[in-house]
This record gives sequence, C-alpha cells and structure tokens, in this order.
Amino acid sequence: MNWNDPLATLRPAMPPKDAAQAAPTAPAPTEDERPRTEVDRAQTATAPVRTAPDPAIREPEPVPTVDGNTGLGSIDRDGGRVSVDDKAMINARADVNQLLPLKYQWAWEKYLWGCNNHWMPTEVPMQADIALWRSPDGLTAEERAMVKRNLGFFATSESLVANNIVLAVYRQLTNPECRQYLLRQAFEEAVHTHTFQYICESLGLDEGEIFNMYREVPSITDKAAWALEHTRSLDDPEFRTGTPARDRAFLKDLIAFYVVFEGIWFYTGFAQILSLGRRNKMVGIAQQYQYILRDESIHLNFGVDVINQIRAENPHLWTDGLEREVRAMLVEGCELEAAYARDTMPQGLLGLTADLCEEYLRFIGNRRAGQIGLEPLFPAATNPFPWMSEVIDLRKEKNFFETRVTEYQTGGALSWG
Ligand SMILES: [Fe+2]
Ligand SMILES: [Fe+2]
Repeated sequence: MNWNDPLATLRPAMPPKDAAQAAPTAPAPTEDERPRTEVDRAQTATAPVRTAPDPAIREPEPVPTVDGNTGLGSIDRDGGRVSVDDKAMINARADVNQLLPLKYQWAWEKYLWGCNNHWMPTEVPMQADIALWRSPDGLTAEERAMVKRNLGFFATSESLVANNIVLAVYRQLTNPECRQYLLRQAFEEAVHTHTFQYICESLGLDEGEIFNMYREVPSITDKAAWALEHTRSLDDPEFRTGTPARDRAFLKDLIAFYVVFEGIWFYTGFAQILSLGRRNKMVGIAQQYQYILRDESIHLNFGVDVINQIRAENPHLWTDGLEREVRAMLVEGCELEAAYARDTMPQGLLGLTADLCEEYLRFIGNRRAGQIGLEPLFPAATNPFPWMSEVIDLRKEKNFFETRVTEYQTGGALSWG
C-alpha cells in the first residue's frame, strides 16, 4: 500500500521569512511512532525548545476586542491593505476575510494535504464485514463487545470534536489560513461521523445503543465530560480572547481537543480495530479507520502548530503554572484512556491487553508532550505495539490488507497497489 500522501514525505518546515511566521515546533507531519533516526531528525523541523518564563516579560494590557474580529463586523471602508505583519493567530486586527497574503505557510499546506486525502466511507466495500458480523462464529463475544464500544466512542467523539472546532475554535482564531484549514477539518469530521452512520447501517447495529453509548458507558462518558469541561468557558457566546486569562483558557481548549482527544484518545481505538484488520477481520472498518487515522494525523499536527505558534507570539502566556496544568492534563488524558482500555478489553484480546495499552498510551503521551515543548511525562515508557508504527507509516506496508484494498483509489491521491 502506498498512500502517496503528502504526509508521507517528511518535509522540513518551510524556511521562515521571519521567526514569527514559522510554527515554532513544526512537528513531523506524519504520525509516525517509530524511534527517530538521524535521517528523521534531519528531515524534521527543529524540536521544541523549552523556555523558562522570563520574569522580565510582563503581561500586556488586555486587548480591547470590541467585536472579536470575527469577520462579520462592519466593513472598514478606509482600512488599508492587509500586511503580513498585521496577521496573528489570536487577537489580530488584520481583516480575517482576506486569505492573502499568507503568513502561516504550514496552515495552508495542511489544508492542501487534507484536500489531497479526500475519501468517503461509502467507497469502502463492507460485504466481508457484514458476512463476518452475521456469522455466529465470525467473532468472539469479547471481540463483538470491543467493536461496539469502540464504535460507540468514535461515533460521538467525531461530533464533539467538530462542535468544538466550529463553535469555539473557529471564532477565536483570527487568522484566515488557519480558518481555511478548520473548514477542511470540519468537513473531515463530518465524513468521520458519516463513517459511523454507514457502519451502523451496514452491520444493522442498534443506532441508539451505539450513538448513546457516550452517555451510558462510564469510561466513555468520563472522557467526553473531561473534554467538555475544557471547552466550557468558550461555550459562553460572549467569550473572546484578549486577556491573558482568556487566552490561556483558549490554549487549554486547544490542548484538550487536539493533543488529548485527537492525539491520545483515538489511539486505543485505532489499535483495537487495526489489530482486527491484521487478522483479516472487519477489514472494511479497518480500512476506514486507516483513512481516519491519516486525517487525524493532520488534525493533531495542525493543532500542535497552532498551540506552539500562539505560544511563540504570546510568550507571557506560558507560565510555570500553565505548564504544570498542561502536564496534568496530559497525564489525566492518559489515565482516562487507560480506564477505557480496561473497560473495553477486560480479558485482553487480539494480542492486546489493558496493561499493554496503558504502556502504549504513556509512549504516545510522551510524544505529545514533546510536540508542545514539554519533557516526557513517563520517561521509562516504551512502545509495545511496533506494528502500529508500520500501519501509521504505510510506506513500509504495501499490502497491509492483502485481500481487497488494492482496488481502492480516489482522487489520484491514493494508490493501494
Ligand atoms: Fe475525526
Ligand atoms: Fe479530527
């Protein structure tokens, strides 16, 4: 399988025109969990640099954000043409309705990568999955329970993430190229939700059981409730960035959703379904999860770039206190995911156990911490699922699902052969 995917080319960061224009960490654009080689390091943009808060940096006066610069305010007929220097991630005064001139090339590139990865769930054949699901001996009872809980988690998580993007993040980001990517991401989240509708329909699952699971299964509810707590302040229609406290609230929302939700919580689910796929079971769903994983890799890396860019432009926000809070958030995220793994796999299955999943999450958690400039959360953690790296780095696995995927291609962006 060759994804022929822009993410597969570990491109170095675009040469910055000036420091303010480059994502400060510009993480590797693939979600490759392999140990880094020298070549990788050379191809990957500069690692995040931890910067101790400078006591000389004073908190600026609150920005008077009258209309929040949403783009829907009255037109400034006398406004001059937009200068790149006036553009900023948050609290910008530059007109947000003018995409050009671009300031953040990394955001525009992610928009293009997302467009190149277009897919629809209905393009994936489901006959083999349907036959296996209907067969009394197709899956064990534990495997069936795991699949349903897995689907139940993802089915509403896609909507939670989409709602946060559309109703909270979009309004606060005052940069048009970032908003352009958010529009693409929002569509991709709709495609992902569509995937779970399509799976329910194909397998004849009880829709209420799957879609209401996030209110009925405590380990799923706990994750959703944790994330929603971090977007609560942004849920206020009057919320606007513009003071350090509110800017930090926005940063924590971004970290909760991009780094924890999309960057940690999806990975047990990916490992479970892809483990089934490796055994030639539920291969249609496994293929859809691979597409989702590819999309989510860009979502995560976009979020990381946004967080690091806001931090670089507003160094007064990143205090020791905030860093402690963020580390605690990531640790909590790993603990919630470990509880979910225990809940979905009480006995262990498919070579996965809750303990191995917990170790994997700690490994992933360390990666996420590093991407936003933090020291490892769990220094001793190792990757117990090296095969996940092979799935993620699909350049190595040309025929992962040997039976069918070679037929699938869309938009010239994917080649499975
Ligand atoms: Fe998604
Ligand atoms: Fe996503």
